[in-house]
Amino acid sequence: AAEDGSSGWLRYSPSPQANRYYHTLPSQVITLNNTEVSPVYVACLELQKGLQGIFGKRVNVTHENGNASASVIVGTVDKYIKVYGNADEVPKLKEDGFWLSTEHDTVRILGQNERGALYGTFEYLSMLAQGNFSQVTYATNPNAPIRWVNHWDNMDGSIERGYGDRSIFFENGEVVDNPDRASKYARLLASIRINGVIVNNVNANASLLSSRNIEGLGRIADAFRPYGVQLGISLNFASPKLVGGLSTFDPLDASVIAWWTKITDEIYQHIPDMAGYLIKANSEGQPGPLTYNRTLAQGANLFAKALRPHGGIVMFRAFVYNQLNESDWKADRANAAVEFFKDLDGQFDDNVVVQIKYGPIDFQVREPTSPLFGNLYKTSTAIELQVTQEYLGQQCHLVYLPPLWKTVLDFDLRVDNKSSLVSDIISGERFRRPLGGSAAVVNVGTSTTWLGSHLAMSNLYAYGRLAWNPADDPQSMLQDWIRLTFSLDENVINTITKMFMQSWPAYENYSGNLGIQTLTDILYTHFGPNPASQDNNGWGQWTRADHMTIGMDRTVSNGTGFSGQYPPEIAQRYENIDTTPDDLLLWFHHVNYTHRLQSGKTVIQHFYDAHYNGAETAQAFVTMWESLKDKIDSERYNEVLFRQTYQAGHSIVWRDAVSNYYWNLSGIPDEANRVGHH
Ligand code: GCU
Repeated sequence: AAEDGSSGWLRYSPSPQANRYYHTLPSQVITLNNTEVSPVYVACLELQKGLQGIFGKRVNVTHENGNASASVIVGTVDKYIKVYGNADEVPKLKEDGFWLSTEHDTVRILGQNERGALYGTFEYLSMLAQGNFSQVTYATNPNAPIRWVNHWDNMDGSIERGYGDRSIFFENGEVVDNPDRASKYARLLASIRINGVIVNNVNANASLLSSRNIEGLGRIADAFRPYGVQLGISLNFASPKLVGGLSTFDPLDASVIAWWTKITDEIYQHIPDMAGYLIKANSEGQPGPLTYNRTLAQGANLFAKALRPHGGIVMFRAFVYNQLNESDWKADRANAAVEFFKDLDGQFDDNVVVQIKYGPIDFQVREPTSPLFGNLYKTSTAIELQVTQEYLGQQCHLVYLPPLWKTVLDFDLRVDNKSSLVSDIISGERFRRPLGGSAAVVNVGTSTTWLGSHLAMSNLYAYGRLAWNPADDPQSMLQDWIRLTFSLDENVINTITKMFMQSWPAYENYSGNLGIQTLTDILYTHFGPNPASQDNNGWGQWTRADHMTIGMDRTVSNGTGFSGQYPPEIAQRYENIDTTPDDLLLWFHHVNYTHRLQSGKTVIQHFYDAHYNGAETAQAFVTMWESLKDKIDSERYNEVLFRQTYQAGHSIVWRDAVSNYYWNLSGIPDEANRVGHH
């Protein structure tokens, strides 16, 4: 059957085992909750759609709870107890958690709340769609309450760092009239257990707050709500002045406080379950509290107080830094987040969450974990990831991101010499915080593939899975996605798995090896090689490459002191060149091109080899994909082939540009004689 591209991994393609399992399937759905449009109502529709699509089986939805055999029962635990007397088998669930049992001839899907019941329904359908008919009973709960996505959508319908066409939320300065696409998006998000969407750019336009736009946001929120997805917005800190007619936006000024309170109340009239605000303040030219000599915490608390009566949350971004002077050996943009936020620990209201990019710079192909996670004991935190591949090939290069994200989520910061995984810090567990979680910049658009590339959707899928359970394995999540998206065929699964698991290392090899951050153009496009663009400017993404040496000295003993921002065990590891892993060497140390790595190679030879290896791997993706020609529908086969062919060529551009650049700079020949003119 022709598939609407917008279904992503929710295709419900006909099962090759349909005949064999048809008789074991439930023949009706018993819903425990109300008939109004709600997550449980949506869950019932989804069950009908899934069973129809996968097995060609029509099932009715009923409220009657007579004979439960051969049924799917779906609803909240509370309702189940009311109807069936008890739910003693179900362990205590956390908010949004669910219990799924497919044993015997009844399937029971019980959520702690309606949202949980919907999540459980998607889980059950995902099993069936993957040909998994095993009998299971288990409960699962989220790692953290905040599992959000961020959109960098502008009011004019463009998307900052978006590679999937136009905004699905805005056009011509206003909220779109038709929320259909928003509703389809919410369905995808619910299936990966995302519960909040910030719909507009962190570089926010104050015109979002016009009465007409607030009404429009209400329409989008109405489209999200049945899927258990809450809407939130980014604010421009100067709005009281820009659109409110006030002469100031000082966060302690009474008229400013009154203005934000009034706007917030108005928003909640239209969106009673609004998730909260996202704030980018005093960063990259955005206005903020520092203009009035107020602290970032005072700025955040302004919104926290306005939101508190409504139950909303402030996500306050830690991405604050200044332009720097490269001639200062001690200057370091990587130091900024801890310098700005550490001393504010304890000063944020309880409904503020500091949202921290995974690394100290900016979504680079390899960064050490942001040390800020280990410096805030009395502040709730969330990690910020990026699904949209800004520096990572902009959806024209295949880069499966979970292995990168896991280097941070699984990182043990050893705060107070105790186990302190980032995933346990953002869950709130490590420092006993009430809030926390994840946000990812997603930037899907009107493209039929959402992100502009079929393969890139794996990153959105896996992001949701990791936000729920950071211990999930990148390869097994990937294989679930492959089965749901492409096929149950072993060959398809193995080939795509191989491509994806090699993709981040390959991209790292040719775009930013040994912890150099990135060699992509940072001044204009953030795309393609430009190893000269990092230096001689104030952005602080320096390589400090000259004829003899390369790398940033971030040690305490001789450099910027960044390594000292980590708790002692980690600080020592990075301070010492012998215990710094090769893949972060140039992040922490300034060395000769002839410096020997732990691998035994010199730095310069590693550059040459990595660039040739990375490009070779990217070229092999084409052949691998071609081997699947008869197993993938021609539309998707060709679209992917086009992108892989592009990547294969562009990886050679990368290889030659970077290898020649360092050959020219260092004058050191390639041992294998590939680089330069011989
Ligand atoms: C990056 C990105 C910007 C974005 C900024 C942010 O620098 O290039 O487009 O506004 O991050 O995260 O705020």
